[in-house]
Amino acid sequence: MAISLANDSVVAPFLIRPALTHSDSTLSLASSWAIVATIAVGVVLLLFSAALKLKTMSSHGIYDHIPPAIDYGIGGILRGSLHLIMSARSILDAGYRQHGGRTFKIPAFGMWRVVVNTSELADEICKASEDDMSLHLALDATFAMSYTMVPSYCSLDAITAIVTKAIRQSLSKSVEHQVYADLSDEISTAFKDTLHGVGHDGNDDQLVKLSIRLTLDIMATGMLLPLFPRACRRFVADACLYVLGTKRRFASHLHSVISERLRLHSPIADKASRDRVDLLDHFIEQTPPDKRTVDFIVHMIMISNVAAIHTSAITLTQALLHLATSQEYQRELRLEASPILESLGWTPEAFSQMPKLDSFLKESSRMNGIGLASPFRMVLRDYTLSDGTRVSPETIVCSNIRAIHRDERVYAHAEEFDGFRFADQLNVSSSSFDRPTRHYYAFGYGRHTCPGRFLASAELKMMMTYLVLNFDMVVEDPVASLAPSDFVFSISASRSARILLKRRGATQSAI
Ligand code: HEM
Repeated sequence: MAISLANDSVVAPFLIRPALTHSDSTLSLASSWAIVATIAVGVVLLLFSAALKLKTMSSHGIYDHIPPAIDYGIGGILRGSLHLIMSARSILDAGYRQHGGRTFKIPAFGMWRVVVNTSELADEICKASEDDMSLHLALDATFAMSYTMVPSYCSLDAITAIVTKAIRQSLSKSVEHQVYADLSDEISTAFKDTLHGVGHDGNDDQLVKLSIRLTLDIMATGMLLPLFPRACRRFVADACLYVLGTKRRFASHLHSVISERLRLHSPIADKASRDRVDLLDHFIEQTPPDKRTVDFIVHMIMISNVAAIHTSAITLTQALLHLATSQEYQRELRLEASPILESLGWTPEAFSQMPKLDSFLKESSRMNGIGLASPFRMVLRDYTLSDGTRVSPETIVCSNIRAIHRDERVYAHAEEFDGFRFADQLNVSSSSFDRPTRHYYAFGYGRHTCPGRFLASAELKMMMTYLVLNFDMVVEDPVASLAPSDFVFSISASRSARILLKRRGATQSAI
């Protein structure tokens, strides 16, 4: 998506395809050969492995009692997998229409995905014990994260547990005011850079670009890896990431800051009394002393970046697209925010008194979200779901979030976007944007509920408010702009959408 000022000059390819100049990554002849060799070896292994997997799938009787979402007939597993690349949404919808709330299966590149369609079953998989189902192994099977984001001497489970704990600690209630103050400062600087053209290309800017690029490289590499035999994955991942170069540049960019912080590290309880504490301090504190190396901390930062960047960007983009299609919503959000910010400033108290803003983000996430088959888990031992569906180890069970978020029994006129649907609810906090419930899974549910959701909520609310106070927004071609660009089960806002911004009076500039 692009955002333009009203004279139509595009000022910033924004959020979904963030700009990154490649001048610093010109590939040498040697690396071009390395790419060709990697691709050639990859294609051979890939065909071999895909053939083996398809054979296993067709002969695996354990899945016979689960109906397919769509019956593709002869050669169905291969055709179904190819269809899934660009049409997951229509496959899920077709399966739901045909089977109602019944569980069905979808072929997905050498494995079956078992899809549950009710909030009761989604709730069940989120609450299943770690001995029965695993989020991290499901992530690994889908994006091969163990090979791209985890050092070879550690497991995805172990490192994510440390990252999650550190994020939770860094966002505790006691530092809420500081988090809001830091965010408002960052957001006003970032928008001035991107939208008011006060750009600079300093050290921080390079790191931002590298972080965004690295997330994309990791996801792209990770999506290819599950097609390769397990034994080759580490090699292929290292080769791809070496050639792409972003992981190395990211690590070297952070090296001196992290090693200095490791050298000076003292327990947070001591440090907090005399100095500012940030997420890096929490990462170091939560890491067992024998693992406190620059390499380990770099990997933790990568994991939190991958979890945070595109999830937040996609969620904001989708909400902005809805907002830009309606002058009325913009007017109402301005009327809600202006007097509160005037009296309370950009504080947690202020944003907790904006039910319309909260509702708008929640409604956008209900309608769109970041994934079509989420929450999802990998089955670790034979398990029977409460609807009688038997699933065997290594099966991925996922939730049809579109069907659950469009359940008419829970959401009246569920197919319609109703920005203030949740605004009138008496107890706003019990149904807020960042609060998962059995009928709202934007941030997952159960023990793996997103630990960054409070930060995401705060930053998205501030960015929406900044934009709505400072600009009038119009979207070009609203129908096409609201059409998503999905890839397999990942949702992305339309890549061709353009929002035009017209600056409002200077008095509206509020941060
Ligand atoms: C709008 C933005 C975001 C959305 C929609 C989102 C969504 C999610 C979802 C759906 C999950 C999986 C939960 C489950 O399966 O039960 C998750 C996990 C996670 N998220 Fe977020 N997230 C967002 C922002 C962030 C941010 C800003 C951070 C970091 C500061 C973050 C860090 C994580 C981590 C570390 C996990 C893994 C938790 C675990 O393994 O237990 N997320 N997120």
